[in-house]
Amino acid sequence: MQSSKQPNNTPSSDDKETKEDQNSTKTAPPKRSLPSSLLITMSLDNINELSNHRIARGSTAVVAKTTLHRTDVEKKVVATVAAKIAILRDSSSAAARQQAEDRIFNEAYFLNECKKRNAKYVVKIVKYCIDPRPCLFVEWIDSTLLNLMFAKDYKGQPVLDTEKALVIMMDISHALHELKESGIVHGDIKPENIFVRNDFRAKLGDFDTAQTAGFRNGHNIVGTLGYIAPELVENGIMTYEADMFSYGITFLEVAAAKDKLWYDRNILKNIEDDNVLIEMTRNGQLRTNASDALRRVQSSYSNGRYFSDNTYDMIKKCISNKPKERPAPEKVVLTLSRSLVFFKTSNEHQKNIDFIESMEAFSKLTM
Ligand SMILES: Nc1ncnc2c1ncn2[C@@H]1O[C@H](COP(=O)(O)OP(=O)(O)O)[C@@H](O)[C@H]1O
Ligand SMILES: [Mg+2]
Repeated sequence: MQSSKQPNNTPSSDDKETKEDQNSTKTAPPKRSLPSSLLITMSLDNINELSNHRIARGSTAVVAKTTLHRTDVEKKVVATVAAKIAILRDSSSAAARQQAEDRIFNEAYFLNECKKRNAKYVVKIVKYCIDPRPCLFVEWIDSTLLNLMFAKDYKGQPVLDTEKALVIMMDISHALHELKESGIVHGDIKPENIFVRNDFRAKLGDFDTAQTAGFRNGHNIVGTLGYIAPELVENGIMTYEADMFSYGITFLEVAAAKDKLWYDRNILKNIEDDNVLIEMTRNGQLRTNASDALRRVQSSYSNGRYFSDNTYDMIKKCISNKPKERPAPEKVVLTLSRSLVFFKTSNEHQKNIDFIESMEAFSKLTM
């Protein structure tokens, strides 16, 4: 088995070097491991072939659609997967290679932590590979919220009607609840990291930036400007509340989609200088703009999606600049379930409400 050489992360069995590193410093974070059953080896030809068929390209990785086969007697298709392959060149330095390994290992680690806890609303990891190129395989999901947000059907109506949008956002609040139960912060909640199946049920993916709650990032700002909570830009500390802020901005975008009030015309697209965005995040201007956009959307009722006042109030709380004012994921599930009982899928949402209310009653009794 090829082991990763990064200081904080190790595949399970063999890594003396890191053990020594860990003993030498009392503050070293706990060692991370992944089961060897998740690791696969691939040839460089295979990987290059996959990269040539990419469907998306980010700054650090390309993504391709492929199938993984069982290698026993007959070749049997196991799964259609997305392969996320680190971009590296022959000329890449050892440091760049190490960084790519760390990034893929980090994502694989947190996705596996979610899988171990049977998280239903997080994209499932299938395999990962370090050598000859860091690469991650996760279940294939056809679309993203970003693709669907602006899509129209043949009648010119938004593909995401109110109910579908609510169900997707509720699924993601379930995902945030699952992460919280596992002590994980995602760090980059936004429409393109929300994956939506053909039945319009959603899962959270892209765990590039995920960390254990309370982890403090170094000097680099982690996440996506425009979605990042102001306090995260200030102190770099990964918290559930910071994820909730980004969730609120995402919801605002869903609400504003037809007029592109926030996404296009407002600031995310028009300000190209990152330093300006950072300053606006710090000084609260960005949040004020978001609240104004929310108010305009709420009063215009122009996008074909009609949310209840309770839902708008909840979004407003999510984008509060005071982390404590932001709701917990369970509260968001409850608010959205209450809105959804008016729709035809009401049974399922009534069950959510009953479940959460019984939890609340229970916690009152035991307090
Ligand atoms: N599981 C998946 N199923 C289908 N497409 C995917 C999947 N994962 C990623 N993609 C596509 O690749 C893009 C980039 O993937 P992502 O994991 O978000 O990487 P990055 O860290 O580069 O943003 C996504 O926006 C989506 O278009
Ligand atoms: Mg992404």
